[in-house]
Amino acid sequence: MILKALTTLALAVAGANAAANQLQQVTNFGSNPTNVGMYVYKPTKLASPLPLIVGMHYCTGTAQAYFTGTQYANLADQYGFIVIYPNAPDSGGCWDVHTNATLTHNAGGDSLGIASMVRYAISTYGVDANHVFATGTSSGAMMTNVLMGAYPDLFQAGSAFSGVPYGCFEGSDMWNSQCAEGLVIKTPQEWGDLVRSGYPGYTGPRPKFQFWHGTADTTLYPQNFWEDIKQWTNVFGVSQTPVTNTTNDPLPGYSWATFGPNVDAILAQGVGHTVPVRESDVLNWFGITNSGSGGTTTTSTAPPTTSSPASGTVAHYGQCGGIGYTGSTVCAAPYTCQVSNSYYSQCL
Ligand SMILES: *[C@@H]1O[C@H](CO)[C@@H](O)[C@H](O)[C@H]1NC(C)=O
Ligand SMILES: *[C@@H]1O[C@H](CO)[C@@H](O)[C@H](O)[C@H]1NC(C)=O
Repeated sequence: MILKALTTLALAVAGANAAANQLQQVTNFGSNPTNVGMYVYKPTKLASPLPLIVGMHYCTGTAQAYFTGTQYANLADQYGFIVIYPNAPDSGGCWDVHTNATLTHNAGGDSLGIASMVRYAISTYGVDANHVFATGTSSGAMMTNVLMGAYPDLFQAGSAFSGVPYGCFEGSDMWNSQCAEGLVIKTPQEWGDLVRSGYPGYTGPRPKFQFWHGTADTTLYPQNFWEDIKQWTNVFGVSQTPVTNTTNDPLPGYSWATFGPNVDAILAQGVGHTVPVRESDVLNWFGITNSGSGGTTTTSTAPPTTSSPASGTVAHYGQCGGIGYTGSTVCAAPYTCQVSNSYYSQCL
């Protein structure tokens, strides 16, 4: 009892983030055949247009653990986006990334529950349907891949930390050792066809996708990084040879490869399972913080996760004025400071 209390306390302190508001559970948000839990973080000040990030935990994790263990809620306070943390219904805390239902648009599985959360957030919270993003770690990274494939209509971008390609766990049980050990090898065409089978007949735009993997990952072997490259370059019809590949970016030993504007693949030399989340780079990729044309450039100049807003300029969607506000009033180009109300001006 005491030990448990101490452990809980230690975890709470280690994982504490400074988010201003509480995580809230939402029920009755729509079709949810596997009973995925919906937990929402809403900052006090909302950006307009209002972005949404879906943040998905790893196996054994929970919505609460990903809320306290990542900086997205703090950054939501700063940039005004909403975060949904889905909670996996599986007893082991893993996401269903293997059933045909979860891999297929509107067919069921955990992915449909998450899609329903996104639809609910758009209709109920006023989330802008063109600013919806998914990210996750390990099993949550696999689910990010699944959502990119099965719900390309709902998401504009994804960022996956240490996952596997869409469909790699297909046809197995909850865990697929073959895939995990990097033994599921397919051609780019086969991987691309799998993604296209996730939403048959879909011809609209597809979410741009960024994935991170460690070369010393012995849980989900790094071969999955190379299979991911085959898959998503095929989906976007671009070469498997990087257009750019910057070494020591964003950290020493990492290399950041780009394959045109829609695919980024970051390999972390010597890093195991999982690659630590880099929220600032993810927000740049989603276009929430960068001042460029949509997060397509390498982001070595991104501020570190823990930094406060730059004193010089305020990024896209950031606050730049209002009663009681003391920060910078200068927006990063090309944005300008626009009054939302007397308490809140924003870089738009
Ligand atoms: C799901 O099953 C159907 C019917 O067997 C198949 O045609 C489809 O390709 C499968 N979808 C995926 C994503 O594997
Ligand atoms: C990028 O360059 C690094 C360093 O040479 C290399 O290890 C890595 O495999 C390259 N990435 C890709 C995707 O080719």
